[in-house]
Amino acid sequence: MEDALTTYLEEARPRQLAELQAWLRIPSISTLAGHKADVKQAATWLMAQMRQAGLEHVELIETETQPMVYADWLHAGPDQPTVLIYGHFDVQPVDPLHLWATPPFEPTVRGENLYARGASDDKGQTFLHVKAVEALLQTRGGLPVNVKFLVEGEEESGSRAIRQYVPAHAAKLAADAALISDSHILAPDQPAVLYGLRGMWTAEVTVTTADHDLHSGSYGGAIHNANQALAELLAQLHDAQGRITVPGFYDEVRVLSAEERGRLARLPYGEAEILAESGAPAVYGEPEYSVVERTGARPTLEINGMWGGFIGEGFKTVIPCQAHAKISCRLVPYQDPARIGELVTRHLQRLAPPTVKVEVTGTRGSHAFLTPYDTPAIQAAARAYALVFGKEPVYTLEGGGIPVVNVLQEALNLPVVLMGFGLPDDNLHAPNEKFYLPNFYRGIRTSIAFLEEMAGTDT
Ligand code: BES
Ligand code: MN
Ligand code: MN
Repeated sequence: MEDALTTYLEEARPRQLAELQAWLRIPSISTLAGHKADVKQAATWLMAQMRQAGLEHVELIETETQPMVYADWLHAGPDQPTVLIYGHFDVQPVDPLHLWATPPFEPTVRGENLYARGASDDKGQTFLHVKAVEALLQTRGGLPVNVKFLVEGEEESGSRAIRQYVPAHAAKLAADAALISDSHILAPDQPAVLYGLRGMWTAEVTVTTADHDLHSGSYGGAIHNANQALAELLAQLHDAQGRITVPGFYDEVRVLSAEERGRLARLPYGEAEILAESGAPAVYGEPEYSVVERTGARPTLEINGMWGGFIGEGFKTVIPCQAHAKISCRLVPYQDPARIGELVTRHLQRLAPPTVKVEVTGTRGSHAFLTPYDTPAIQAAARAYALVFGKEPVYTLEGGGIPVVNVLQEALNLPVVLMGFGLPDDNLHAPNEKFYLPNFYRGIRTSIAFLEEMAGTDT
């Protein structure tokens, strides 16, 4: 990097940090209706930043749910490729609040980390691309490639609007590659490109055993308790080894080659790391798969919440007539969320004894994502990482999901580059979310390096 840009980036650090902190102060929780105005404010704050950075056509895209922001800079010339940068400015709820060392919307630097909800997921990682573009426009007056931004406010609640918007605006969003920083690398100095993400299917299960709650003295022993019935049902969904018992559940699952399994086994990440991060006493799950495979390449069925009956103060001898659970499946290529929904629903119905009525209300969910990584755009990302981090990236699978990736891949026909800058212990969705600041600044430089590496690339 030439001197002017290096000097600029060094001097700009305190301002870049202060700006990110200002964005993080906006509690843009998309899953809570009471925060709708905050999500909008996070959008308009970003728009002001984009204009100041020198981006053009900055636009607020209102939807039925949460807004999105579009912006571009298209003066690199028709011979240069176009990069579409995606991110999200909505965040997860903050409970349990009392476990935060500092309040979630008062971004605080401790040591080398910035603590706040959204610091890593995904305001910090989105903002670094705005700062990269700004640095290039301020020091050189131009970008090496054409750039479009599409940033949404609904990722944490399923990306409904953007998944409709993208196919309907394919010409406007036309590009040669999509770039997303909404994931983590393996260690501070070990960059990682993701070539797969898991998909999702979610549902609510309701079990009914009577038409009203009953006295457990008069009816106990003769009428099935709904809490018990729900526990019995859900307990049958896995075997003792952690395999899912739903018939047909694994039929479509992508089988890993020996080569891929060998490569995943050599990653500098495994049981020790996952135990240290989680505080769990032992790992769980299918014994014939490594934890990287279990989280990256195997599907799951999770019980996210259960409720029913009496949980108030004191004591109540009652047989609850109804109990509920929220369940979700993490899906892998080539599972179809709608088919998984049918299989799980049918299995629960079949397991239900005559004493129990089961209802499953499901949503369709999203498909898993998979991309080859020997493509020009991903190799440009690999060179950018290597240049800034001084180390070649590894290629890995991630268990989380980003619902829009398949739409970018299929509706826009783009190679999707998943180039993250978070760390595995960033506490995403949990108390004390953080972003490791040295990698915020390295992320800005890596973003610049990526745009430079993309210039002249024939995708
Ligand atoms: N950024 C995460 C996904 C992620 C996490 C990718 C860790 C790579 C590493 C994203 O914001 C997220 O939380 N996605 C949700 C999607 C859901 C709410 C539709 C998820 O995976 O639960
Ligand atoms: Mn995210
Ligand atoms: Mn998230």
